[in-house]
Amino acid sequence: MSADKNILPVHIGFIMDGNGRWAEKKGLPRTAGHAEGARAFRRIARYCKKIGIKNITFYAFSTENWKRPREEVNAIMSLFMQYLDEAEDFAKDNTRLIFLGDKSPFDAKMRERMVYLEKASENFDEMTLAVAMNYGGRDDIVHSVKRIAGLVKNGDISLSDIDESLVSSLLYTGTMPDVDLLIRPGGEKRISNFLIWQSSYAEFYFTDVLWPDFSSGELDKALKEFSSRSRRFGGV
Ligand code: IPE
Ligand code: IPE
Ligand code: MG
Repeated sequence: MSADKNILPVHIGFIMDGNGRWAEKKGLPRTAGHAEGARAFRRIARYCKKIGIKNITFYAFSTENWKRPREEVNAIMSLFMQYLDEAEDFAKDNTRLIFLGDKSPFDAKMRERMVYLEKASENFDEMTLAVAMNYGGRDDIVHSVKRIAGLVKNGDISLSDIDESLVSSLLYTGTMPDVDLLIRPGGEKRISNFLIWQSSYAEFYFTDVLWPDFSSGELDKALKEFSSRSRRFGGV
């Protein structure tokens, strides 16, 4: 048995997909799938903490998901308030919470709550839990580029100071390491504008299991697969 068996990813990204199909299969409204998906979020975040994963990011709502019917978007938004209540328990438990994406489309109450939780947990260091809401990988890069342009314009930095680490540090994930393992349940094999910059050397794990059914056992399978992969980062 190789020593690699014990290698844990430092940062896992989860694309929480398949909620709608989970509900449809059971003859329930899609929103019931989102509610069950929120339970899976709680279960998996807790399990990651228990086994010592240092950084986890959950893709909850993309910049493209606003295209969905208004009733579905509204139902997801009210569920976010539940996510935020759940998040508060983590924030009390030595977990740093951050929200990735532009917060401005959310209502004031929700924005305040997000900022409050980020501030209240900023010094916690056992785990960082990021929730990507109104997040898009391209939007993330544009946001970083705008911040860099501002620094150049103000004379704080010059053109030659711009490098990959500066771009990385000004992304929404600026304080987190790159993604090592990206898990997508729900059967689709695509990234759907998730952490595109941060996943440049991530290992991908796809499964047909729908997100509401994703269990700690499923995560163990992904971790086992991860530790058997040979990561070369372009080397030999
Ligand atoms: C993911 O589940 C949740 C969000 C995108 C908000 P979906 O709602 O995309 O579920 P499927 O893919 O339709 O089954
Ligand atoms: C990706 O799922 C976004 C989230 C899980 C938040 P989608 O269901 O939106 O992705 P596509 O449309 O199948 O690519
Ligand atoms: Mg989907």
